[in-house]
Amino acid sequence: MAYDTIVLITGAKTGIGKAIRDGPDSSPAKSLTSLPTGDGSKVIVVKYDASSSTAAIELEKDLRDNTEITHLDIVIANAGILKAFGPAKDVKFEELQEHLLVNTIAPILLYQRTAPLLEQSKQEPRFFIISSTLGSNTLMDDYPLSLIAYGMSKAAVNFAAGRIHREEERIAVIPVQPGWVQTAMGEKAAVFAGMEPKDVPVTLEDSVSGLLSVFDSATKKLHSGRFWDQAGKEVPW
Ligand SMILES: NC(=O)c1ccc[n+]([C@@H]2O[C@H](COP(=O)([O-])OP(=O)(O)OC[C@H]3O[C@@H](n4cnc5c(N)ncnc54)[C@H](OP(=O)(O)O)[C@@H]3O)[C@@H](O)[C@H]2O)c1
Repeated sequence: MAYDTIVLITGAKTGIGKAIRDGPDSSPAKSLTSLPTGDGSKVIVVKYDASSSTAAIELEKDLRDNTEITHLDIVIANAGILKAFGPAKDVKFEELQEHLLVNTIAPILLYQRTAPLLEQSKQEPRFFIISSTLGSNTLMDDYPLSLIAYGMSKAAVNFAAGRIHREEERIAVIPVQPGWVQTAMGEKAAVFAGMEPKDVPVTLEDSVSGLLSVFDSATKKLHSGRFWDQAGKEVPW
């Protein structure tokens, strides 16, 4: 296969994942199977349900059995949910469980199954996790939103990134905050915060062009095991 860089993105159907996949200038109206692609680039769609304990196993099998892919250069664990709003006293067992499953456990399982393919990369392999400053303990007073299930799931996945970074010699493992972005999720958070959806501060285009430059420039030595935002600024845990 002649493609220089092979990137796997989860949750690429809508929102930030779709915009990363298509590039900042893409038309959101295109369907998954009729995507615009640049010269020398190709899109392969594979099934992935982050809430399933076998999703990453099936994804790896699908890549190996049904595609020509024998390595990956970049993995972006982007799929995520924000579904539970309100104070800790009201959060339900199922809400905590689902956020931890999709936002924390799924990226760890995805890492486990994609690491052997990343190890085959001829570049410096990179595993990014789209995280959130709502999972930062240091910044908790800056974002006074009662989103315990979401916040703790992102704090936990940040910890996982730090842990995995220390266990991996070659693979860079990097959590990234995309900004407060104009997506379905960003707008839902705005309504919960008492804002208008149109007042969500970061456009999808700005978020994604920032993320793409973070993805391009990130290295194991300088960025891995640390938390960054879409402007390339380090975020405290
Ligand atoms: N928007 C923001 O302001 C913001 C801020 C900080 C961090 N983030 C993070 O950025 C990432 C993308 O969010 P977004 O704003 O693009 O949200 P979004 O518009 O709600 O899109 C979320 C994406 O994740 C996918 N997804 C959800 N559950 C899934 C599952 N069980 N299995 C596979 N895919 C699943 C969705 O697919 P379906 O449509 O098929 O469900 C969708 O493609 C998330 O991890 C989010 O936590 C967003």
